[in-house]
Amino acid sequence: MKKIKILIAFSLIATLVIMFESCDSKREPGKIYMPDMTYSRAYEAYAPNSLKAENINYIPYPVEGTIRRGDLFPFTLPKDSTGYAMSKDVKDPLPPLDSVQMGEAQRLFNINCAICHGPKLDAQGPLATGGKVPAVANLTLKQYVDMPVGTMFYSVTYGKNNMGSYASQLTREQRWMVIQYVKSQQLKGSESTDSTKTTSGTVKDSLAVKK
Ligand code: HEC
Repeated sequence: MKKIKILIAFSLIATLVIMFESCDSKREPGKIYMPDMTYSRAYEAYAPNSLKAENINYIPYPVEGTIRRGDLFPFTLPKDSTGYAMSKDVKDPLPPLDSVQMGEAQRLFNINCAICHGPKLDAQGPLATGGKVPAVANLTLKQYVDMPVGTMFYSVTYGKNNMGSYASQLTREQRWMVIQYVKSQQLKGSESTDSTKTTSGTVKDSLAVKK
């Protein structure tokens, strides 16, 4: 009888010790006796995985030289004067935009570029006229009308002097779209552009058209 009591007391203490051991922090799993249950063997994107050493082989980056399905070819020119000079030969990979896509391109231009270049491309955006950003390019001038699309893409991708890079705000495709819009407006000359024509509703439509 005494032996059984000791045994019960002992196992009770042991259970308590294990219980308290395994829950000292809510964020840590405590003692792990089944690591497969605690750490998923599945490849989980960006999840911290403390079992990396045990052959969990997750690479969070695309394999070098591969392109996401449906993506445009990467723009590989270097960000230096040679790259700038070479950019004139880069061709626009997009087919000519239809009117819905052009509406979307205009929307993107008005959001991202018009603050400096102005909705009419004549450097009359508020940051230019207010003197906040000096020397904004007037894109209606001949030198810009004649500028190859590749050079424009280069400058919008890497930035130029007072203009920052738009590579993180606009996807490659969106940058080419905006440049097609700039070119279409330059061809139109001084014809006014109606910025109220487009609404955000065109985004979905233009994506649908693309696919
Ligand atoms: C913060 C103000 C600002 C914004 C916003 C801006 N730009 Fe510019 N942009 C400039 C300035 C300043 C220059 C003149 C750069 C130089 O040659 O010194 C310029 C030059 C350019 C050029 C001529 C580049 C070259 O190689 O000479 C193009 C094309 C252009 N911008 C297009 C765009 C487009 C498209 C957008 C929107 C995605 C945009 N810009 C947004 C300020 C801006």
